[in-house]
Amino acid sequence: MDYITAGESHGPQLTAIVTGVPAGLSISEEQINSDLARRQSGYGRGGRMQIESDKVRVTSGIRFGRTLGTPIALTIENRDWENWSETMSAFGKAPKGLEREVTPRPGHADLVGAMRSNTDDCRNILERASARETAARVAASGIAREFLAELGVEVYSYVVSVGGAAMEEENFLESAPLYAPLDIELSDMRCPCPKATEAMKAEIDQAKLDGESLGGTFRVVARGLIPGIGGYATAGDRLTGRIGGALLSIPAIKGVEFGLGFEAARRPGSQVHDPITLDPKKGFSRASNNCGGLEGGMTNGMPIVITVAMKPIPTLMQPLATVNMDTLEVEQASKERSDVCAVPAAAVVAEGEVAFVLANAYLEAFGCTNMADIKATIKEYRQRLRTMSR
Ligand SMILES: Cc1cc2nc3c(=O)[nH]c(=O)nc-3n(C[C@H](O)[C@H](O)[C@H](O)COP(=O)(O)O)c2cc1C
Repeated sequence: MDYITAGESHGPQLTAIVTGVPAGLSISEEQINSDLARRQSGYGRGGRMQIESDKVRVTSGIRFGRTLGTPIALTIENRDWENWSETMSAFGKAPKGLEREVTPRPGHADLVGAMRSNTDDCRNILERASARETAARVAASGIAREFLAELGVEVYSYVVSVGGAAMEEENFLESAPLYAPLDIELSDMRCPCPKATEAMKAEIDQAKLDGESLGGTFRVVARGLIPGIGGYATAGDRLTGRIGGALLSIPAIKGVEFGLGFEAARRPGSQVHDPITLDPKKGFSRASNNCGGLEGGMTNGMPIVITVAMKPIPTLMQPLATVNMDTLEVEQASKERSDVCAVPAAAVVAEGEVAFVLANAYLEAFGCTNMADIKATIKEYRQRLRTMSR
């Protein structure tokens, strides 16, 4: 399963094409729309979230709610297009009085993108570098999520910290896989702790007053996984690298920790590795989950628990210094309409990226043409694992 997205932030629409999807998978439009709404939610989002209410339109690959095994094309309209149709017109001449973007924002793709593309207008860069693109990713990953859901795998996320405000978790490796996704969704910050939610909102309020922006951390959890998905034999097989790469492909994501993460580097081996147990019901299991569900580049059947760090949003309402590309004078960086904090939204995008990698690993292990065959192969595999632990 693979996807590609296209579309500018202020163009007419975003497009995602998903290939390699098996036939016979049930897809719910409402489910994809609810993921899109989750991506738009979260305290601290910018004005755009009030304008846009993303809805997916499926134009190929699905018939009567089931996949055909052919490329799936998904589009999301940009509702602000009518205000941008001249500035972002695909053809014709630039309108009179068009203001080029010549004061690149530090921390954004603006300047290096312009250098690389040989343009004197950073809008040619920022339109695509904008995280608006992640809406198309969320729609695409909806297909992967439905695939995993049909196989009993659930992927969810929650926000752990924003700026200096953090939720307290005694043993997150035990608690993270036990949260009820509804408790997370009920929080404005997608955080299961009401006290921490309020503290995060207060940080955001203060940041807004100060013309500042904030980053934070969140966790992604995948549960219901079969052991042995992924691979250890070649660099490209290892799920650790594949998931890490997918998460780091999200704009503003700067760190990924698996299980104990960096804390493991501080402990001796006996306090890191998870003893193997034999459970009469579960078969082979682990006494703890410090590795966060991945051993040797493969799932070990325990929940995957990943902690992800997002940097603060680069567009600042009290902008940093930059250099005007026309005059070469020092000026303040430009201000696009912007979020103060987008950690909850990034967490939703991250769920989708993890789902995509896991869906692919399942397809590699159990076939990829149609859901009935895939399920039958998984049943056989599970049966064999049962006999191994008897
Ligand atoms: C969901 C989401 C929303 C974002 N919203 C904004 C925003 O409103 N303004 C902004 O300047 N950056 C925003 N960003 C971050 C930038 O897109 C990102 O920092 C920029 O593209 C530079 O990439 P880099 O941070 O990976 O170097 C957002 C990121 C995500 C994941």
